[in-house]
Amino acid sequence: MPRFSPQFARFRWTPGRTGRDTAPPPDISRAAALDYFNSQIAGAVEGWLGDRMWQVIDMIGEIFDERQIDGHIVEFGVHHGLFLFLLTVLRRNDEKCVAVDVFDQQDLNIDKSGNGSLAIFKSHLDNLIGPYKQYFQIVQRDTLSLDIGELNGLLGGRRAKCVSIDAGHTVHHVFSDLLLAQDVLQAGGIVAVDDFMSVHWPGVTEGFYRFMSTANRRLKPFLYFQNKLFLTTISEHATFVEMLQAKIEERYPDEVRYVRWKPVELAGERCIAFA
Ligand SMILES: C[S@@+](CC[C@H](N)C(=O)[O-])C[C@H]1O[C@@H](n2cnc3c(N)ncnc32)[C@H](O)[C@@H]1O
Repeated sequence: MPRFSPQFARFRWTPGRTGRDTAPPPDISRAAALDYFNSQIAGAVEGWLGDRMWQVIDMIGEIFDERQIDGHIVEFGVHHGLFLFLLTVLRRNDEKCVAVDVFDQQDLNIDKSGNGSLAIFKSHLDNLIGPYKQYFQIVQRDTLSLDIGELNGLLGGRRAKCVSIDAGHTVHHVFSDLLLAQDVLQAGGIVAVDDFMSVHWPGVTEGFYRFMSTANRRLKPFLYFQNKLFLTTISEHATFVEMLQAKIEERYPDEVRYVRWKPVELAGERCIAFA
């Protein structure tokens, strides 16, 4: 979570701006939802997000559609909701967006990563999310106190197609949150880990590598993009990499030619890295 990193500067957030009063119309396409995110939400919600993250979420959305991957969307570590609002473009039908954060219990934010606020998050839901608010579930919790039985209960027994891990940034938090995420993830779903390889949050990288050496690990990384490491389930990993690589080559041929997108080996796994 690099607050003032020049490379990943705050995503066009303007202090004091609250977005427009009118909410998005129901049942809009992903393209329209992304347009709404970029024009109305990105500049109005405080947070830390790469300026091109929406392009990756768009490609992941296409892959989900093509492979018919469904399930809830979960974020551990919400702050004011910026990335979760972007992930909302992946939501379909009755899928939920589950926002897990210590929020107003900041004494449980032991490494001071971000500073969640229930009042601010709820005001964004009211002002920016409108009719889609009904699909949001707020869970004020320390993720270290969640176990898999309780998380399954919160999800109503349905799996998640997307889990964002951005709560506590210590080795213990990241390791524990990855174990929880893999247990609720849909086959072919994705997990995004924020601040991977960040010099200010070394616990994230260490937590990831500790997870990678566990015997029952069922995820592999497939993309490192603007501070986030993306993983998917082992059996679907090769297909995911191939589909994503094809989309990148189609959409960004010049950047592929100039090796901004590069196939790499990360923790021994086939991965795409963007720089
Ligand atoms: C880096 S911020 C999240 C940024 C957010 N994903 C965004 O898009 O802007 C980290 C968040 O994690 C929350 N947090 C810290 N430790 C936590 C824990 N143990 N359990 C749940 N949430 C935690 C903080 O309150 C803060 O809101």
